[in-house]
This record gives sequence, structure tokens and C-alpha cells, in this order.
Amino acid sequence: MSKRLVELKSVTKSYGNVNAVENVSLYVDEGEVLGLIGDNGAGKSTLIKILSGVHAPDSGEIYVKGQKVSRWNAAKSREAGIETVYQDRALVAQQTIVRNIFMGREITNFLGFMDMKKQHSEAERLMREIGFTSKVFNPSSLVATLSGGERQGVAIARALYYDADLIILDEPTTALSLTETQKVFSFIQAVKDKGRSVIFIGHNIYHVYDIADRFAVLDRGKVVLEALKSEVPSAEILIQNMHSIARTGHIGAEPVELRGGIRLGDN
Ligand SMILES: Nc1ncnc2c1ncn2[C@@H]1O[C@H](COP(=O)(O)OP(=O)(O)OP(=O)(O)O)[C@@H](O)[C@H]1O
Ligand SMILES: [Mg+2]
Repeated sequence: MSKRLVELKSVTKSYGNVNAVENVSLYVDEGEVLGLIGDNGAGKSTLIKILSGVHAPDSGEIYVKGQKVSRWNAAKSREAGIETVYQDRALVAQQTIVRNIFMGREITNFLGFMDMKKQHSEAERLMREIGFTSKVFNPSSLVATLSGGERQGVAIARALYYDADLIILDEPTTALSLTETQKVFSFIQAVKDKGRSVIFIGHNIYHVYDIADRFAVLDRGKVVLEALKSEVPSAEILIQNMHSIARTGHIGAEPVELRGGIRLGDN
């Protein structure tokens, strides 16, 4: 049986009179990819900011590896092995891959100087581990020369270096082409193969369907659908259900006529 890595219980968060997250319970098991989906403003980012300690919930509980946590904050969340990768904001483009991976947590030698050689070899190892196949790049390459998908790869490599058990990706593929998205997926697969977990937030349901083992759908701050991938025959069925939820607030019995290429949100 898989082990529970993190769990939110009855978490609520309001901004003024907006109930961004309302009584949400959600878990992530070890080694699984949870796809978190829902329309704009559904509360996805708020929820993961609570998990990563950026925002405190108004009420509710957070459990990490079975232990209830208290006075949760960003530092504690990272210590507990939770790393969040935000689209585009994660890296400094004019710096090298190696600098980006170790920024703020440099490897130093016994004199306290930065150990460039060690950082270089560690960066090489991490890039290999997550399946950086391009021969063109090495740890000294500037991030600015990388494609969008590869940049996400560097951010994921950095999270792995920090020994993350859970990597949260908030819309990592929104601005990416199909080829670049495939690259990010292969990085995520490598993370999963290492027994780590991922929360993948995305607007493109086809993307989320491809990469996730399980789905949670948020609608106006509430979890309205949770399903294993094995329970959902196709991305289209997932989309149908989401449309039905968007209209009625719950999973409806009435069938939704399926049109090709339906996308939710702005992607
Ligand atoms: N810092 C904030 N101050 C005030 N309201 C906020 C804040 N952050 C989020 N909200 C509101 O909370 C609700 C949920 O927002 P959130 O960003 O969590 O949604 P989301 O599902 O991530 O949406 P998107 O898909 O557009 O990223 C929205 O109504 C939003 O306007
Ligand atoms: Mg968001």
C-alpha cells in the first residue's frame, strides 16, 4: 500500500469575502502524480500556497508523513521536503544552470568558499538523473539559452537537489509547445521513478490527463471530483464532467455533448 506523504484536512482560506478555498481535504501519496485542475480562480494556487507555507489557512489541518504540523510556514515546508516551482519566476536567465541550481544553497569547501567543481559535478549528475538528454547543454550553459521545457527541467533538478519528496508544479506547461511539454513530462516521470511525488497544476486537461495518476478537481474553492486515472477512461470524459460541474456545481447525470478540442481556462 502506498504511504500518505501530505494531507490537508478541512482547509479553509478567505481573502476578504472571497472564499478562495473552502473546507478542502486533499492528500498526496508517495510516488504519485496528483493532477490538480479547475477553472481560473478555482483556488488551486491558494491551496498549494497553503501547503507550501506561503499563506496560512484560516482553519484546517496539515499533516506531513502522518504528523500534524503547527505554525506551518515556507521554511518548515521546505525542510519537510516540499518544493514549489512557479512558472518562469523560478530561474535567473542570465546565470548558468549550475548557479541556478545552487543559488542560495551553495556547496562550500572547508574554508567556506564555493566548491565550483563539486557543484558542477552535482549539477551534471542531477541533469542526468532527470533525463537531460541534450548534448548541447552542460552545467555552465546560460539558462537563457534553454528552451522553456528545459528551464522547467532545471527548476525540477534544483528541487531534487533540495531533496524534495514533493514537487509542486503550478502550471509548468502553460506557455510551452507540445514538444516542450513532453520534455517536462519526461522530467516529471523521472521524479516519479525516484519515488518522489508531484502535484501538477494545469489548465490543459489533456496534459494533466497524460501525466497524472490521480485527479482532484476544484470548483469555486471546493473539491468537487477526485478520481484515479484508472477510473476515468479518457481526457474527454474528464472534461465532460468538469463542464457539467461548472454549470451545475456538481457532477450531473445529464450527458454533455462532446465537441473536439474543448479546453478549459485560457490555454
Ligand atoms: N492574495 C490574494 N488576495 C485576494 N484575493 C486572492 C488572492 N489570491 C487569490 N485570490 C482570490 O482567490 C480565488 C482563488 O484564486 P487562486 O489564485 O487560488 O485560483 P487558481 O485556481 O490558482 O486560478 P488560476 O487558474 O487562474 O491560476 C480567486 O477568486 C482569487 O481572485
Ligand atoms: Mg493559479
